[in-house]
Order: sequence, then structure tokens, then C-alpha cells
Amino acid sequence: MRKTWDNSDQCGAGAPAHVSAGGTRDVWLRKCGPSRAFPDSVNIGTVPIRPATVLAPMAGVTDTVFRRFIKQLGGCGLIMTEFTSADGVLRNPKVRGRYLHFYQDEHPISAQLFGSDPRLLADAARIVEDLGFDLVDLNLGCPAKKVVKCNGGSGLLRDLPLIRKIFESVRAAVKIPFTVKFRAGWNDDEIVCVDLARMAEDCGLCAVALHARTREQGYSGNARWEWIASVKQAIKIPVIGNGDIRSPEDACAMVAQTGCDAVMIGRMAPANPWIFRQIEQYAERGSYVQPAEADRYQMIRTYFQMLLEEEMPGAEGKMKQFASWFTHGVPGGAALRKTIYEAEGGAEILSGVEEFFEAKLQAQPL
Ligand SMILES: Cc1cc2nc3c(=O)[nH]c(=O)nc-3n(C[C@H](O)[C@H](O)[C@H](O)COP(=O)(O)O)c2cc1C
Repeated sequence: MRKTWDNSDQCGAGAPAHVSAGGTRDVWLRKCGPSRAFPDSVNIGTVPIRPATVLAPMAGVTDTVFRRFIKQLGGCGLIMTEFTSADGVLRNPKVRGRYLHFYQDEHPISAQLFGSDPRLLADAARIVEDLGFDLVDLNLGCPAKKVVKCNGGSGLLRDLPLIRKIFESVRAAVKIPFTVKFRAGWNDDEIVCVDLARMAEDCGLCAVALHARTREQGYSGNARWEWIASVKQAIKIPVIGNGDIRSPEDACAMVAQTGCDAVMIGRMAPANPWIFRQIEQYAERGSYVQPAEADRYQMIRTYFQMLLEEEMPGAEGKMKQFASWFTHGVPGGAALRKTIYEAEGGAEILSGVEEFFEAKLQAQPL
């Protein structure tokens, strides 16, 4: 089923996926001409982010397993938790355990909070700081009705005075760098991104991340990178650009077109977890390695094993979801997705994946 956030056929200047043509090499080196300018690193307050790439927070996706998995593949400078209710953090220890649990090898890591009460958000930010997070982030982008109804996420974009109170309250509560991730505005008639970014800078926030769509757009249409450029021109603190990066070429294009200090990648990460490393390679030498079928197989098994080892709640659902993203565009992927959706239990899902890839690898010339 097509998800509301899936606009894969509408946008992105990304290059099509290329598959190894066989032969003795199992990877295919993509030649892209001279390397493109891409920031090596960015400092968010006192925290150096190297390289200047961020894994976008994604509810249901960026749990500790996925974050570590991305980190291990290399090239990702900062990882973030999925958004977490400030109210939940304060009232319910289970929320803390489930959403704010991380391992030492995840540093630097940012915790993203949502809510609309300045005092509760400040208290929750203190907890985040005490837990050892390197940064705390405020979500002003979530378009989900249940979040907006309580004035959280993008709901706040229509109330800049309240946002100021939240900024001030959280800023005063913690020493760690405080950042905000937001959409450009509620709709095309109410674009607030530049005003909001200036306010963030005024209130002592250390960076802003803009998903260059309105709330009304949801995930449809194209991200409008010109809004990122406008924000970059208006403030001095680092600007992280987000929206529709599907390839290393896109990442470099965003930097070139907007002047942003770092890029943030969401939906492409589960589809191509190597994208961060590829950006690093592309920036360094103008080419990047395209993983072969055997790498994809190894990768999906590693992730599934990590999920099972962590005894993650909902691991089975996550495996199904991930397999579906990950096999998008892979020849024969539809058949595998069907097998996986019908499978019962983690072990059965894993064996469906193993059969699929083993058959593919056997059919390939060595
Ligand atoms: C499944 C899913 C969950 C998301 N959850 C969050 C979230 O918890 N917090 C947030 O700020 N944005 C969330 N987002 C938005 C992403 O962080 C990102 O802004 C958006 O997907 C655009 O970037 P992309 O084009 O690289 O995917 C989510 C997106 C998806 C697809």
C-alpha cells in the first residue's frame, strides 16, 4: 500500500539505482566527474558533527537499532531519536525507556521532543540532558492530526508567540545545544520559516533544520529548497536542509543551491542505508560505490539480527516495514514483499529474505 509520505515518483533529482552488471567485481564504482563541495563538518553549539549529515527523526523507524545500524555503515554525523512526547517523558517511565534509550556508541545523538507547554518541554529537556544526550531538538513539523490537535508539531506554526515562550523556557532549562526542526509554515499563505528561524537564533538556539514543505503539503509535491536558502540568508546559526534528498548528487545540489551547513535525510535512509557513506565518497572523490546484491543481502540480515537481539517491541512489524522499503526498486521485490507480509514471526520473515537473495545470487554470474 502506498503511504501518504511516499512521493517517490514525484520528486528528487537523484540518479536511478544501478545494479552490478556481474563480472568479477561485486561493486560498481559510479563515476561522477570532479568532487562536489560539501561541508566536512558543522558545529552545533559545542558539538562537532562530522560529516555534516543527519539521520532525520522518523517515528517507528529511528529506534536505537536502526540508528546504530546506520551509524555502523558510516558517513552519518548525527542521529536523532524519533519524536517523543514531553508529557509522556515526564509522566511515564516506560516512554523514557522505550524512546529515549540509547547506547554509548550512538554519540553524538539528539533527542527530539514535541509538545506545546513551555514548562513541560523545559522539564522534559532537563531529563534529556540528564540522560546524557548531546543535543535536544523541538519538533515543529509533525503534520499528524493527533499531534496537531494538541497544538504540538506543525500545529504550533500558527502561534509564533507561543513558540517564543517554548524556545525561551527550554533554552533556560538546559546547557546542551538546543535545536528546532520545523516545516515552512501551515500552508502557502502562512509561510513563517524565516521569522521562525530568526526567532530561534534570537532565543539562543544552536541550529535549525527545515523540512521545506508546508503542513498542508504533508509529503506531497516537491520540497521547496528555496525556503532553505531564504532561512540560510537570514541567520548565522547552522541551517540543516531537509526534504527529498535521494542520492549523493541531491545532497550536493541542496548544499549548492541553498548554502545549507548540513543535510538531513529521512525516507531514503531505510531504502538505501549506504546513502550517508556515498555522500562522503562523492564529496571526496566525485564517485561512490553502489552496493551489490550480496551487500544488500548481508545488510538486511544484519539489521534483522540486530532487531531480534535487541528484543525490540514490534520487531516483526519493523522487519516487514523495512523489507518493504529496502526492496523498493529491487527486481523481483514485489514477490518478496508479498512473502514477507504473509510470514508469521521474525524467523519466517528472515528465511523468506534468505531464500529470495540466495536464489538471486545463484542466478548471477560470478
Ligand atoms: C515514517 C516517518 C516518520 C517520521 N517521523 C518524524 C518524527 O518523529 N519527527 C520529525 O521531526 N519528523 C518526522 N518525519 C519527517 C522526516 O524527519 C523528514 O522531515 C521528512 O521525511 C522529509 O525528509 P526526506 O524527504 O529526506 O524523507 C517522519 C517521516 C517519516 C517518513
